[in-house]
This record gives sequence, C-alpha cells and structure tokens, in this order.
Amino acid sequence: MSFPWAKEYQPANGFTKFLDEKLPLPRLVYNAVGAGYPVPRNLSYFWNFGVLAGFCLMLQIVTGVVLAMHYTANADGAFSSVEHIMRDVNWGWLMRYAHANGASFFFMVIYIHIFRGFFYASYKPPREMIWLLGVTIFLLMMATAFMGYVLPWGQMSFWGAKVITGLFGAIPLVGEPLQIWLLGGYAPDAAALNRFFSLHYLLPFVIAGCVILHIWALHIPGSSNPTGVEVKQESDTVPFHPYYTAKDGFGLGVFLLIYFTFVFFLPNVLGHPDNYIPANPLSTPAHIVPEWYFYPFYAILRAFTFDFILPAKLWGVLAMFAAILVWFFLPWLDKGPVRSGHYRPLFRKFFWFGLIPCMAGLFYLGGAPAEEPYVMLSQVFTAYYFLHFLVILPIISSIERPDPLPYSITEAVLGSDDKAVLGDSAKPVTA
Ligand code: HEM
Repeated sequence: MSFPWAKEYQPANGFTKFLDEKLPLPRLVYNAVGAGYPVPRNLSYFWNFGVLAGFCLMLQIVTGVVLAMHYTANADGAFSSVEHIMRDVNWGWLMRYAHANGASFFFMVIYIHIFRGFFYASYKPPREMIWLLGVTIFLLMMATAFMGYVLPWGQMSFWGAKVITGLFGAIPLVGEPLQIWLLGGYAPDAAALNRFFSLHYLLPFVIAGCVILHIWALHIPGSSNPTGVEVKQESDTVPFHPYYTAKDGFGLGVFLLIYFTFVFFLPNVLGHPDNYIPANPLSTPAHIVPEWYFYPFYAILRAFTFDFILPAKLWGVLAMFAAILVWFFLPWLDKGPVRSGHYRPLFRKFFWFGLIPCMAGLFYLGGAPAEEPYVMLSQVFTAYYFLHFLVILPIISSIERPDPLPYSITEAVLGSDDKAVLGDSAKPVTA
C-alpha cells in the first residue's frame, strides 16, 4: 500500500532527473527501501531477518560463482577439484568456507524468519501471498542445498544423494523410472553430478526471482509488526531510511561477527567429517545423515517404520513433503481474528510449549542414529507436529479469547494515542 504520507522522490541533479524520466530506478529504490517507504515504527529485531536472508542469498551467489570457476563437475575430478580450490586457488579456502558456512547461516536466518512468521501469524490476510512465496522459496532452498552438498563428491555427498533419490523409488508404478530419470542412471554417478551442478547453479537465480516477487507482495500491504495492529496513521510509521537501514545495518554487523567466527575459526564444525573421504559406492558410512538444516524433516521421514496400506518408506516420503506443504495452508488453518502471539494467550502457550520443543526435538532426532529410543521419539514428535498445525491451531484459533489490543501502533509505543480517545476527528499525533 502506498500510504498518503509517503515522501515523494525528488531527483537531486541533472543526471538523476534524466534517469527518472528514462528509467526510474532511483525512484524504485527510494520507494522500496528508502525514505519513500513508511514502515511501522515498532519493528523488533525479528524483522531484521528478511534483509539478512537477502544478504545470505547474494553471498551464496557471489561465492558460488567464483567456486564454479575452479570446480569440475565430473565424478573422477570433483573431489580433487574441491581440494585444489582449498589448497592452490588464491583465497579458494575462503570462498569455499564462506559458501559452505553461508548455506548453514542462510538456513539459520530463514528458520528464524519463518518462526517469526509463525509467532506473529504474519501469514494471515492480507499477507498470504508473501507467505506462499516464502514457502516456495524455502522448498527451492532445500533443493538447492541438497544438490550443492552432492558436488564435493565425498562420502556423505554420494550416500546422501543415494538415500534421497532412492526415496522417489518408493512411489508406486512411476517410482523406479522416475528415480532413473532424476539420476540419469541407476545410481548417483557422472550424469547425476553434472545435472545437479547445472541445477545448483540455476536455482539460486530462480530463488532471487521469487524473492523479488516476495518483496513486491510485501510492499502491497506493507510490513506487519509485533502488535499485529495495522498502520492507521502517519504517527504509526517512520521512513525506512534512515531508521531501518540503520537497524538492519546493525543487525548485519552482528550477523557478520558470528558468521566470520565460524568461517575463520570453526569452518568445519557445521559439516560432516565423512565428506572429507572421496565418494566410494562400495563402502556405506555407518550413519548417513544430511546437513543439520534438514534434520527435522529427516526425522519425520524416518519416523515411519511400519507398512500400513502403503509401504513405510512411502509414508515417510509423503509425511516429509507434507510437513512443509502444510505451511501453505496456514493462512486458512489459523482462524483467529488477532495476529500477534503477544495478544493470544492460548496460541502463545502452544507455540512455546508445543511447537518449539517439538521442532527442537525433531532437530535433535534427525541427527541421532536410527535406533531406539530415537525412532519412537521421532514418531511422537512427528505426530505432535501434524497435530499442532492440522488440529490444535484451527481449534485454539477458533475458541480463544484474545487479550485487548492497543488502538494503534502509536498507542502501543507511546502509551496513548489521541485518536484512541477522541476518535478519528482528533488531530493526528506526529511521530
Ligand atoms: C531467500 C529467502 C527470503 C528472503 C530474502 C526474504 C526476504 C524478506 C524481507 C526483506 C522481508 C521484510 C522484512 C522482514 O519482515 O523480515 C520479508 C518478510 C516476510 N517474509 Fe520473507 N524472505 C525469504 C524467505 C521467506 C520464507 C521462507 C518465508 C516463509 C515460509 C517468508 C515469509 C515472510 C513473511 C510472512 C513476511 C512478512 C512479515 C511481516 O510483515 O510481518 N520469507 N521477507
């Protein structure tokens, strides 16, 4: 929404005036992330993570393009080309560690971004489209990360690819031909590596396209905020620049401190040592585990151990995909009239004592060995996960009585708002 009080772009000199007439890019930037974009004045640090995610995407693209200049997508040369990057290429070690840790940090940022969305019900109208595009981005990120992990052609790359593509084999009738079609053969080999590289290079640009749509969709209603109360008047907002450029800049600084601590001092902590062993189709690792950011979904996949009408493996695959697809329906599963978890006592309890421990448990269990008691616990947590979204959320959002909301963002911040007492005829409070 363009608020009537949004500042209008004024070209400062002859050149920007020329540009404004021919290709108004500076105007676009001014209205998107500049002084021309009014944003709620009360955004917390949880609203930094969208910008951080954008930064991570750019970081991955830049470091990835440099790595691709020296990488060989060939089953005989892939592993040694990565070692060549680490040892011989100038700053190659930095590019690789920045890229590998960048993927982990990208997912950390995105998980916080998504869980911010869960708590503040950012998916609710009028922001459904932002949310739907977000879930699509998340699916694309998972595909990209999975294919990227195959590229170094270490033991975990090979066996991870084998396990995950093997899942498609569980689909009735078309499973086996589909698996062969995906891999270009019966097992991960030269053809699979080549196409994974091609797609791993392509998908980040598709993600970038979706991010542009995501931000576009965000600019229609504008950002929500921790109260969940929509903007009503000028005093509820501040211009994006300089207020949120400064706040996002500070957040980026903190992020970079933590990220570089990992890149320079703990570069392999988030990886798996087995991936420093070249892929060997004749030797299966004791525990095949994906990267940490796949753990919750891997735990759900492995929770199905019994055949019931369909084979257990197929249930696992369906549940794993359903665990993400269910997020698409959140705007309609959550029926509550109030958005923010701060004003929803029951919703808040199930968030902190239900969903959060459940996700933490699934994160832990996805990395644990496939044996008891972990399998049984995975089954319990998987059951709660689906129960939470499909049963608990629709019920509590229909029956709960939310706490009283502030009249406006201004009232939430300043403690009072003339309009709340005197009605719309009152003089607007200035920021
Ligand atoms: C590359 C990935 C992504 C990028 C670059 C990105 C970027 C952004 C940015 C810059 C914002 C505005 C600032 C903020 O609210 O933090 C935003 C808002 C939002 N994003 Fe994302 N996002 C990404 C992925 C996702 C995903 C995976 C989801 C959900 C599954 C999602 C859901 C949302 C929602 C609902 C909002 C609106 C929040 C509100 O106004 O309260 N985004 N995103």
